[in-house]
Amino acid sequence: RNFSCLLGIETSCDDTGCAIISDSGEVLGETLQSQNLMHLRNGGIIPDVAQDLHRKYIEPTVDKTLQAANISMSDISAIAVTLQPGLPLSLAIGMKYAKHLARKFNKPIIPIHHMEAHALVVRKEYDVSFPFLTLLISGGHCLLAVAQDVNKFLLLGESMDSAPGEVFDKIARRMKLRNVPEYSQMCGGQAIEMAASKATNPHMFKLPLPLAEYKDCNFSFNGLKTSVLYQLFKKEKVHNVDADKLIPEVNDLCAATLMAISRHLIHRTQRAIEFCSKNDLIPDKKKQLVVSGGVACNNYIFKSLTMLCNELDYAIFRPTPKLCTDNGVMIAWNGLEKWWRNIDIVTDLKTLDIKAQ
Ligand code: KG4
Ligand code: ZN
Repeated sequence: RNFSCLLGIETSCDDTGCAIISDSGEVLGETLQSQNLMHLRNGGIIPDVAQDLHRKYIEPTVDKTLQAANISMSDISAIAVTLQPGLPLSLAIGMKYAKHLARKFNKPIIPIHHMEAHALVVRKEYDVSFPFLTLLISGGHCLLAVAQDVNKFLLLGESMDSAPGEVFDKIARRMKLRNVPEYSQMCGGQAIEMAASKATNPHMFKLPLPLAEYKDCNFSFNGLKTSVLYQLFKKEKVHNVDADKLIPEVNDLCAATLMAISRHLIHRTQRAIEFCSKNDLIPDKKKQLVVSGGVACNNYIFKSLTMLCNELDYAIFRPTPKLCTDNGVMIAWNGLEKWWRNIDIVTDLKTLDIKAQ
């Protein structure tokens, strides 16, 4: 073949993802093996369980992707693989398999930072140029950063406790939203978004704005989570609901939760935008905000951020939903961006290791 392509492997959390991308950026094959249902059953991700499932899925996932692309390993120019951040046990499976392939077929490895991949994949679909501001919101992370180049990110702020997706998931579980057949296959964030759209009186619940007085770009969600769980507990007492029943006001409480999380995200993003203009981090011509990560799938949150951006003269971008959540394409894409620039192409595999952070 006279063209080259890259293989991307993602195993940082609970999805085994793989994709093959051509050197012009076209996705030739992609596979996403989710562990979601297993973890929903367990009430959360158990690292050992996630590792066992990655171990079981990694080879078939890569093979399936090669078949879908009708490509053999000899056609691959390099293997991009997530080495940080993530669950160490999960990351290790992707790294080991990537190293195995790299040795067997004599290919270089391109190490990928999972969060950078979340931020950069938008460039596969939209004309977003450096530098840009990025808000990454997922089940494991919440951060604001300036993407200055493919491998140069300036962190402006991050969550000091949990991530918004994690809070959605915990609240949804505590609300027993899984018992509603319509929501039974959804992750917490999706279920809360759906329930919130049915609210009639979202202002019945008052929730705090976290870190209102702090003049930085950090986040905190635990106080909000505690407030929601306390309101839930009070309502359950009032209504004396059974173990698997929902409180009648559940939709309103979901809406209040969504609005409060959204308000906090907007408040901090506005601070980051102000900080960037004060410090000349983003020139007027580059006023771009990229939102990514699983929570970016939330349309209410995205609309609220769009309103903020309209006010501040920023353009806003987010990848299509399946590229917002964890996937192999973003890893392959980030590998390609490095390949084009000839950076981080590693042939001495001994130097490669995972980093949890
Ligand atoms: O990026 P992702 O797939 O995995 C991590 O790296 O965490 O994000 C998963 C998270 C879950 O916590 C899930 O509840 C949340 O993204 N999520 C949403 C929505 N869809 C997924 N949160 C709010 N609204 C949604 N529509
Ligand atoms: Zn992620």
